[in-house]
Amino acid sequence: MSAILPHGGTLINRIVEGQEREALLSQAAEWVSIPVNAWTISDLDLIGVGAFSPLTGFMNENDYLSVVNNTRLTSGVIWSIPITLAVTDDQARQLTVGQKAALVGEQDGVIYGVIDIESIYKADKRHEAVQVFKTDDLEHPGVVKLFDRPDTYVGGAIQVLNRPVPEKFNEFYFDPTETRRLFAEKGWKTVVGFQTRNPVHRAHEYIQKAAMEIVDGLFLNPLVGETKSDDVPANVRMKSYLALLENYYPQDRVFLGVFPAAMRYAGPREAIFHAIVRKNYGCTHFIVGRDHAGVGDYYGTYEAQDLLKSFAPEELGITPLYFEHSFFCTKCGNMASSKTCPHSKEDHLTLSGTKVRALLRDGICPPPEFSRPEVASILIEGMAEASKSYSI
Ligand code: ADX
Repeated sequence: MSAILPHGGTLINRIVEGQEREALLSQAAEWVSIPVNAWTISDLDLIGVGAFSPLTGFMNENDYLSVVNNTRLTSGVIWSIPITLAVTDDQARQLTVGQKAALVGEQDGVIYGVIDIESIYKADKRHEAVQVFKTDDLEHPGVVKLFDRPDTYVGGAIQVLNRPVPEKFNEFYFDPTETRRLFAEKGWKTVVGFQTRNPVHRAHEYIQKAAMEIVDGLFLNPLVGETKSDDVPANVRMKSYLALLENYYPQDRVFLGVFPAAMRYAGPREAIFHAIVRKNYGCTHFIVGRDHAGVGDYYGTYEAQDLLKSFAPEELGITPLYFEHSFFCTKCGNMASSKTCPHSKEDHLTLSGTKVRALLRDGICPPPEFSRPEVASILIEGMAEASKSYSI
């Protein structure tokens, strides 16, 4: 097993199997049900497999307030993103503390899990938004999602009875117990996790490989849960990661597995969450570059790094590896950052998202110094298939 301790000390397992599962399923069919959407099912499953250790359920009021206000659970353990179950007022009226409820997929009627209701409470969404996202601007994709949900939350320990089934790329879904075992089998003592919601461009590759110089292995862990509509869809990204790894990475030093969580776009707060979750998957290090998990101009370039640095390293329990904004410098003739390049901005290859989208839409590969041709051609294909345009 991987040497690194899970967050809070114990890897949580709330997956129920065998006869116990059968028994619970038939009981739950008689209980009051709470409809859950894809996002909540993903949170439920990630709690169940221990990716969100030490959480054992959706947050009760005390933990929720503590996380929102102090970036810690009531136990004192660092936690930055509320993981909550929202219900409408009508649904809330049917629920009481102490009761058990079935968590039922709103699309398919599947009983994904059960919850022991410990707490039913009203959330102050505006306060949550300002604390977690640092804004209550409805233009922010995370804030608008928050305000779209009802404002009564139900907290309590969960058990998972059915797991969501991926539509594609099944073979890249691993639970924390599996990644921990696989890293150990590979003999990796140090593993760096890389979060991304984008195709891997040259700047991403550069910082990954810089990190690979000092650790045993890279866990390329793209987020494939819900993202905003103009992000590149996960299926297109997965194809591009496979092409990139096949052509440019040593096969025995990189491991590709997905992170099936929803993207919050919470910048600094989400960087903490991303790091802690990767620790649960068995990573010892985690890459944080420029504007990690940011969107638009809501966060400063290095704000995520600054927030991580404000916590004691032993409390985080995973070592963040910080990278400056990276780019291709035509004078240096390689990838660089302000830490390594003496040249001026004019010598740096910078392409706006709009420009890259326009190129891809016209079927033109951006320069190889920006994106590997194998990656660009998959994005061009993906873009041609969809009528909308993606961010890059
Ligand atoms: S994120 O929302 O998942 O953080 P993205 O996929 O773009 O977005 O970034 C993945 C990781 O790479 C993050 O740690 C981010 O800070 C880092 N990153 C992205 N682009 C650059 C860059 N040009 N220079 C340095 N770090 C970068």
